[in-house]
Amino acid sequence: MDLILIGPPGAGKGTQARWLVERLGVPQISTGDLLRAARQAGTELGRRSGVYMSQGSLVPDDLVLELVAERLQQPDCEKGFLLDGFPRTIPQAEALDAELRAYRRKVEFVVALEVPDESVVKRLSGRRTCGTCGRIWQLAFDPPPSPDKCACGGALVQRDDDKEETIRNRLRVYHEQTSPLLAYYERKGVLRRVPGDGKPEDVRRGVFAALGLK
Ligand code: AP5
Repeated sequence: MDLILIGPPGAGKGTQARWLVERLGVPQISTGDLLRAARQAGTELGRRSGVYMSQGSLVPDDLVLELVAERLQQPDCEKGFLLDGFPRTIPQAEALDAELRAYRRKVEFVVALEVPDESVVKRLSGRRTCGTCGRIWQLAFDPPPSPDKCACGGALVQRDDDKEETIRNRLRVYHEQTSPLLAYYERKGVLRRVPGDGKPEDVRRGVFAALGLK
């Protein structure tokens, strides 16, 4: 399956992706994670992306497209993939369509998680991620064993773009630049809208049902 998870920042894309990857056996490709890894490695791409990411703006299309094209050519994507956080603009979606066409493939489903803005701000302000195993926690709704330690013993970190002012800018960017993709994929008949404001497990059931999975 070639799938896309779309939704505002903090909609639960990463949380749902983990369950889908486990169920479908396809790799999760998160452009946010790839860009953060490039920043941490101190590459030229990471340096150029960092300026945009810390403000909550989108990284320019050409930088992201190069990164994704390279990732999709890896052997583990041959049987399918789950894109998380990509595409985020119409030009990115068109470039993805062209890339897939070259391999006689196409996007089969786009799952759109719908979550109100105020829930997003609450969720992201309390998000913590384990630096060791990658597990995502939420201090109020899904608390870790201690505020700075994961169940695996790893240290929990807060993302530098999870500050309220930056979260609000990310939401503005989502509504202006990414939400037009919903109509784009609706026209292609592949969009599945799923309410994302329930408990994570309830959202998971909605996502699986939208994809015809048990
Ligand atoms: P990216 O890393 O993609 O961030 P995002 O889209 O803003 O999404 P998040 O990772 O913040 O949230 P999520 O939906 O994965 O939610 P999660 O499951 O963690 O992008 C970061 C930046 O990189 C961008 O701003 C941009 O600069 C750049 N970038 C990335 N891709 C790009 C692209 N294609 N083009 C250009 N620039 C790009 O959940 C959030 C919290 O809520 C967690 O604490 C979780 O535990 C909790 N939670 C999850 N589900 C629930 C629930 N149902 N109820 C209560 N809490 C929940």
